[in-house]
Amino acid sequence: MKNVAILLSGRGSNFLALSDAIEAGQIPARIVLVVSNKPDAPGLIHARERNYEAVCIPSAGIEREAYDRQVVEELSARQVDVVCLAGFMRLLSSWFVQQYPRQILNIHPSLLPAFPGLHSQKQALEWGAKVSGCTVHFVDEKLDHGPIIVQRSVPVLDQDTEETLSARILEQEHQIYPEALKLVCEAKVRVEQRRVLIRK
Ligand code: GAR
Repeated sequence: MKNVAILLSGRGSNFLALSDAIEAGQIPARIVLVVSNKPDAPGLIHARERNYEAVCIPSAGIEREAYDRQVVEELSARQVDVVCLAGFMRLLSSWFVQQYPRQILNIHPSLLPAFPGLHSQKQALEWGAKVSGCTVHFVDEKLDHGPIIVQRSVPVLDQDTEETLSARILEQEHQIYPEALKLVCEAKVRVEQRRVLIRK
């Protein structure tokens, strides 16, 4: 059983998808902490409604590593094994990443390495991509860069807006994030250079 922490900044729908899968017994994990850097994040309210321990550590005006040290203190106190970034809109410091080698996961709404950074769905539309999708990857010291655990593609349709494409991608995010966390918690993944190899 792995102790999982969720870090989020907003809506929290990926957190809810992870929580649903864990509560349904699909993943050998328990959520021991939810952290938001935004006091008014809806995800924080959902976490409290589900009776998880949920804390807000406001990030405004705090230097990156000083902030990360506050977060890691909370994680260490609860013996967290795996950290899931679920719409946590902050870059982690190298120091944070080094505390949890290959134990921090992120979900991103594009097929990386296409369209990293912000507004990935808008970037895909503006580029004229015919497919896009989502990626769960290990976090390393560069933005949206670490080894890819699971990806899923969706079509980009002629009539798509940022909203409709985002909704189609989000549906797949909610599928692949639990799948990826399950693989990691069951120790079924091995990383060779950039390749994440999955034991069946
Ligand atoms: C999701 O679409 C996630 O992929 C994206 O933010 C949204 C959070 O939604 N993350 C990033 O863009 C990270 N670069 P949620 O709060 O409902 O899970």
